[in-house]
Amino acid sequence: MTKTEDSKSTMRTMRLGHWWRFILFLAVLAGAQRSNAQDELWWKSTTVYQIYPRSFYDTDGDGLGDLNGIIQKLDHIQALGFETIWISPFFKSPQRDFGYDISDYQSIAPEYGDKQTCLKLIEAIHKRDMKIVFDLVMNHTSDEHAWFKESASSKDNPKADWYVWKDGKGKNGRKPPNNWKATIGGSGWHWHEGRQQFYWASFLDFQPDLNYSNPEVKQAMLDVARFWLSKGVDGFRLDIFNSIFEDTAFTNNPASLKIVPSEESPDGFFQKMKYNVNQEESFRFATELRAVVDSFQNPERFMVGEVFGDVETIKKFTSFENKDGLHTIFLFQTLSTPFKAKKWRKMVEHFEGNFPAPFVPTYVFSNHDRRRSITPLGNDVRKAKLLALFQFSVRGIPFTYYGEELGIEKPKLPLKTGKDPLAQRYKAIPQFMVDWTGQSLNRDECRTPMLWDTTAHAGFTSGEPWLPVAENLREKAVSVQEEDEESLMNFYRKMIRLRNENEVLQMGVLTVDEGFSSAKIFAFSREMKGQKLLVLMNFSKRNQKVESVSGENLISTYMDFSKTELKPFEGRIIRLQ
Ligand code: GLC
Repeated sequence: MTKTEDSKSTMRTMRLGHWWRFILFLAVLAGAQRSNAQDELWWKSTTVYQIYPRSFYDTDGDGLGDLNGIIQKLDHIQALGFETIWISPFFKSPQRDFGYDISDYQSIAPEYGDKQTCLKLIEAIHKRDMKIVFDLVMNHTSDEHAWFKESASSKDNPKADWYVWKDGKGKNGRKPPNNWKATIGGSGWHWHEGRQQFYWASFLDFQPDLNYSNPEVKQAMLDVARFWLSKGVDGFRLDIFNSIFEDTAFTNNPASLKIVPSEESPDGFFQKMKYNVNQEESFRFATELRAVVDSFQNPERFMVGEVFGDVETIKKFTSFENKDGLHTIFLFQTLSTPFKAKKWRKMVEHFEGNFPAPFVPTYVFSNHDRRRSITPLGNDVRKAKLLALFQFSVRGIPFTYYGEELGIEKPKLPLKTGKDPLAQRYKAIPQFMVDWTGQSLNRDECRTPMLWDTTAHAGFTSGEPWLPVAENLREKAVSVQEEDEESLMNFYRKMIRLRNENEVLQMGVLTVDEGFSSAKIFAFSREMKGQKLLVLMNFSKRNQKVESVSGENLISTYMDFSKTELKPFEGRIIRLQ
């Protein structure tokens, strides 16, 4: 071969090389686009399992759950069929509010592990094709955070303005600057001897609010988000996100007759929370945060906000029209809707009517602040199965709190000895009054350790558990339910598998079925790509006759069921022909 021929052939090879590379590039791009398309949807069709790390699984015998414990128990969550895991905060913290009082956002609390274990956890979850969501506490830090210590040290230090400081009123300036109440009642203003000023805390006194009107604070917290996103975290649950901004004129809140805040409104303690909650600036901040989160892709990242407010407020936080705010919000009405067919129908119609697709509602029945979901159901496993059937067949993102799949019940733990700072704060309230309301002021009750097996402390720890293990419930442990085909846990597995295998249950259009719905039965269908599933739920304790429909029974909360009637609290899904 002459030199020219040689160079021609080299050119050809090069061209061919480029050509193949180009094809390869297109193929990779196509692949990436395909996975992009899927990834874009992942959070819309996902299922979330919430872990309270302190109570999940202890691997070092100190009586507290840890990150290694989560790694070791990933099989359990994956076997249930969940895709996403949200973990309550495990960052450095004095643990006065068990992690919701952070003193360093980029370090791991040593009792839970270290940075390396955290990165290992992220990797372990991703290896299983699952997602991990962190809990981002942006509104406040611990009063032991270096930022607060510096801010409190004088009125003119570089961080003097990082928190919400204000002179007091009255002759000696010892009266709170205005009438604002904390979200848990009582004035949210706290006197600081050092600065001779008050600081604002939306929650407890040791959780001072950051001052988001200061651009440096905003940047510092957006950097925290960036830091964890760059480590591969798939999204955030945003703690009390509606308290981020306060009115900078510190206008007094108007009076209200409302005593206790509710799911739809933070107003309470005889006050309209007009100037300290749900501010326009907070809605705008949601879009700023979204832009940061969106700058990380493959996969698209996700945010769910803890927000209390009416439909309009929720829409504003999500920037409903432009879809450039938070991806979704907890719709907490699920927690207070009575277990009745008509009420549930109303709730679903309310969500579907106000938050139609592409908005994705959330369905949550308990968390680390609320009663265990089976408690208001009278600890009735039949009802718990119906709840699960509903949660994984309705249009929205289901959130399951660890132990909910076992039917862990709320134990009675007295306020007086509660470890929860809220219990401490309210310990003067007579126990009989707390029992009478049926509510839980002692959040220890929903944080008792996970039940793994029938050994001592239900296999949670080899040491002394930080909260009492519900030893009387050991028959509900994972190892026991594993062996029982009809157990609640096995029903969760079947139901989630059904959802995972049927796109129509994830993304299908939901329509209330007028024909089957009644005072006792709530029925709806899910429809997509020519497929139609009918979901029937009997909310009564008696058998209910139903017209037999032609179709395939996909699942029932009972092993044996009849075509023409629904058993007490039976739920069933039928693929219509
Ligand atoms: C949220 C958390 C709760 C915490 C509080 C203060 O409501 O869910 O557990 O105590 O915010 O961060």
